[in-house]
Parts: sequence; C-alpha cells; structure tokens
Amino acid sequence: MERFQKEVTAFFRNLYEGERKVLVSGEGRVGAPVMMIGEAPGEQESLQGRPFVGKAGKNLDAFLAQAGMDRAALYVTNVVKFRPTKVSAAGRTVNRPPTQEEVKLFLPWLLREIDLVAPKYIITLGNVPLKALTGRGSVIGEMHGQFIEWQGRQLFAMYHPASVIYNPGLKEVYSRDIATFACRYREETEKERGK
Ligand code: URA
Repeated sequence: MERFQKEVTAFFRNLYEGERKVLVSGEGRVGAPVMMIGEAPGEQESLQGRPFVGKAGKNLDAFLAQAGMDRAALYVTNVVKFRPTKVSAAGRTVNRPPTQEEVKLFLPWLLREIDLVAPKYIITLGNVPLKALTGRGSVIGEMHGQFIEWQGRQLFAMYHPASVIYNPGLKEVYSRDIATFACRYREETEKERGK
C-alpha cells in the first residue's frame, strides 16, 4: 500500500502540477472485508484530506450505525481522488460531477487499490463508481440493493449518500439497502468464523 500511495501521489503531482488540487486517498486497512467507493471528494474531504467526512459522510455514518456496521470494518475510497469543481453563476466554487476523462484517468488506480485491499464485498455509492466498474451507466434505480458478481467479488450497488440530502424520499430505500447488505455480511462472516 505504501508503494501504491507513493505512485499515485507522483502521478497526481505530474498531472496537476501548479494547480490547487488536493489528493484525497482511500482510508482503511488492507484486507478490510468491505470496500466502499464514492465518486469524488467534496469540499470538506478536500480540506481534511480524508474521504467521506462532510455532509454525505455524516449521512453514511448514520446509515451504517443504523445497520450495526462499523466504519472500522471498511476501506473507504473514491473513483476520482480530488474534488472536481466549477465556478457557479454566483461566482462560488462548487462541486461538479467528475468528467469521463477524469474517471478514465483514475480507474486504473482504483483497480489497483481494489487488488491491494482485496475486499470480499464492494459497495458502490451512486452511478459513477457503478459505471466505472461494470460499464453500466445510470442504472442505480434498477441495481441498488442487489448483489452482483464482479471479478470474483460481491458488488452491492447503493445510491450515493448525498442523494438522500436532495431527495428525502430515498431515506427509506437507503435504510433497507444497507440493512440488506449488513444482513448478508453478518450471515456470511458468521458462517466463515464457524468453519
Ligand atoms: N462524496 C463522495 O462521493 N465522496 C466523498 O468522499 C465525499 C462525498
């Protein structure tokens, strides 16, 4: 992991030399059973240099706690590892979704990160990581809450935790999905322990 961090940092420095972009690396331990993948850091993440520490992260923590899951069991990362921004009509710097090119640039790093961490389960948060890994775009509405096999791992698609902020109606769906995941995770973990 140390070598990976060094290499991704060098890649990032070369790519964005002279720009005020902050690299936000994944967080968690190698060998964590669950890897959660978001789209890209937001303002707080960029300020603190850690993934999912802003509003969306707080939502995520609340849902995880509700399902009895500890963030310590997770490795949390993003497809794109810096905050994509644009200037709003009001002249403020705001978040924007990552472009296809940005996703393409960072995808090989994400794939290496997955290999290194070697999680049994991958939870994708929103369409960006789902599309980056499976090639299927804008299908979160059909795929959320289900396990699919992805390269020998179990991939579970969820809405992005920020979508609950914009669409409170999704709260119930989100709770149900995380409970579905937690239930399978606990069952399989107990089975493995009992072996
Ligand atoms: N949204 C993401 O997709 N990732 C973060 O780290 C924070 C917000």
